[in-house]
Amino acid sequence: MKLIITKHNLGLWAASYIRTRWQARSKEPFVLGLPTGGTVVDMYAALVGLVKNGKMSFRNIVTFNMDEYVGLPPQHEQSYHYYMHQHLFSQVDAPSANIHILNGMAPDLHAECSLYEKAIEQAGGIDLFLGGVGRNGHLAFNEPGSAFNSRTRVMELTDSTRQANARFFGNNPALVPSQALTVGIGTVLQAKELLFLASGVSKAEAVARLAQGEITPSWPITALKTHSRAALLADPEAASALTGPAKAYWEQARAQHPDEDVILTL
Ligand code: GLP
Repeated sequence: MKLIITKHNLGLWAASYIRTRWQARSKEPFVLGLPTGGTVVDMYAALVGLVKNGKMSFRNIVTFNMDEYVGLPPQHEQSYHYYMHQHLFSQVDAPSANIHILNGMAPDLHAECSLYEKAIEQAGGIDLFLGGVGRNGHLAFNEPGSAFNSRTRVMELTDSTRQANARFFGNNPALVPSQALTVGIGTVLQAKELLFLASGVSKAEAVARLAQGEITPSWPITALKTHSRAALLADPEAASALTGPAKAYWEQARAQHPDEDVILTL
C-alpha cells in the first residue's frame, strides 16, 4: 500500500481522485463506499462543487456508507443519514434508489447487516472505498480487536471513540450511542480499491502504527497493508509521529521537492 503525505487540501485531493476513477470506470454503475466524520467534510464540499460545475454526476454512482449509530433516527443531526443528506445527497443528482446507509433503527439489526452485505454483492462489489481513521486506528466503526475477515455487524463502541465523537454531542460522551452498525474490515478489504484519509495530530499515532508497526487487529488501520490497491492520504500533522526510515525518507523528499506529495510504499 501507499502512504501519501500531502500539503494540499485532503478533500480536494480525494474528490479529484474520485472523479478520475469515476471517469475511468470500466462498468456501470460505479460503486463507492463512503465515510462520515470531520475529515471528509471538505471532500464532500469538493464533490458537490464538481457536480454543480457539470464535471461529475452521481446518476451512475451507487453508494454504500460505512456505518451508522444504533438508535439515532435519520432526522437526528448526529446520525450519519443526516450527515450524508446535508453534506452530499441533498446537493447532487444521486437517485435515491442508489443510496445505501445502514439503518440503526432497524427492528432486527442482524438482519439489517446481512441484507447490507447482500446489497453490496448485488451491486457488483465496491469499486472504491473511501474512509477516515479513528484516533485508536479504527476503520468505519471496527474497533481494535476486530477480525480482518469481519463482515457488517453490530459493534460496541469503545470509550476512546465515544470520547472522540463527544464533540458532536455537546461534549458529553454519555450522549454518544454505545453501539453502531458497521461494515466489517473484511467488507472493506473486498473493495477493488481503498483510499483512506487522516488529518491532524490526533491521527498521528494511528498513521505511525500503520507505517512502522506490525499488522495487527489491535490497530485496525493496519489491515490496509494487506490490500493490493490501498492508499492512506495524510496531511503533515497526521504524519508527524513517523520515525526511523519513514521519517528520514519523508524529510529528504520534502527538502528536495517541497511542493510535491511524498509517496511511501509500505
Ligand atoms: C467516526 C466514524 C469513522 C471515522 C472516524 C473519524 O468514528 N465512524 O468512520 O473515520 O469517526 O472521524 P473524524 O474524521 O471526525 O476524525
